[in-house]
Amino acid sequence: MQIIDGKATAGAIKDEIKKEVDSLVASGHRNPHLAAILVGHDGGSETYVAFKIKDCQEVGFRSSLVRFEDDVKEEELLAKIEALNNDDQVDGFIVQLPLPDHIDEQKVIEAIDPQKDVDGFHPVNVGRTVIGLPSFVSATPSGIVELLKRYGIETAGKHCVVLGRSNIVGRPMSILMSQKSINATVTVAHSRTRDLEQLCASADILIAALGVPGFVKASMVKEGAVVIDVGTTRVPAPDTKSGFRLKGDVVYEEVAPKCAYITPVPGGVGPMTRVSLLSNTLKAAKRNIQR
Ligand code: GUN
Repeated sequence: MQIIDGKATAGAIKDEIKKEVDSLVASGHRNPHLAAILVGHDGGSETYVAFKIKDCQEVGFRSSLVRFEDDVKEEELLAKIEALNNDDQVDGFIVQLPLPDHIDEQKVIEAIDPQKDVDGFHPVNVGRTVIGLPSFVSATPSGIVELLKRYGIETAGKHCVVLGRSNIVGRPMSILMSQKSINATVTVAHSRTRDLEQLCASADILIAALGVPGFVKASMVKEGAVVIDVGTTRVPAPDTKSGFRLKGDVVYEEVAPKCAYITPVPGGVGPMTRVSLLSNTLKAAKRNIQR
């Protein structure tokens, strides 16, 4: 059994990005610039955005944080998005989700210029990904593909079961795994799937993206499978400094001994998600240089 070290892999990719930034700057270009819009004060969102800003600093990107209170009017948010779309100094930006209920999330996503949509949430980017055109791919699925590649994990002809069909992870993950560069045979499982346990146990590659802590047990995993755990549910942990700990969708202790490869939580998929946003932002910046 080999543990897939997402933290170390993300660290190596960050070094690669930093080198590219240094050479861009040495040849007279400005630093890549990521902006983030954060609405309200949700604990998880605050943490994620703080990490994104820290990551930018580490690789030499400029970053901007635009904050709104949770009673912000939709028009006000859309006006800011329009301003960022037209700002030549910003290569890419994200609107941290979830948004308050009175704001139409899909309308917000569709207001972002697809060329600056480094989250890869805009339907233009999703559609381009589906038909294999250059696009921004959302950070978690692209981070997982990068892990599989860097660990030299065989995917061609393998049966990949994706648990979950969210727009951000499960759905795009299933699309990527079936692409010609990866060539897996993909099943997307969800809350209405029958015989789920048996289905999971037939997977060569099992990608758990349900957000249900401890859902995947040893009985659901084939001997020698590759297990990718996308779950990062915060559970209370009074003994920690933050007061919580991250729990994956997989019962690691019982599943790991059966696996050829497994990602831990934390330190598996999470760091790769963070670094994929940096890769997308660098791509946006380089495209702006070419134009
Ligand atoms: N909320 C949870 N994950 C994400 C993400 O990757 N991007 C944004 N913008 N919001 C999120």
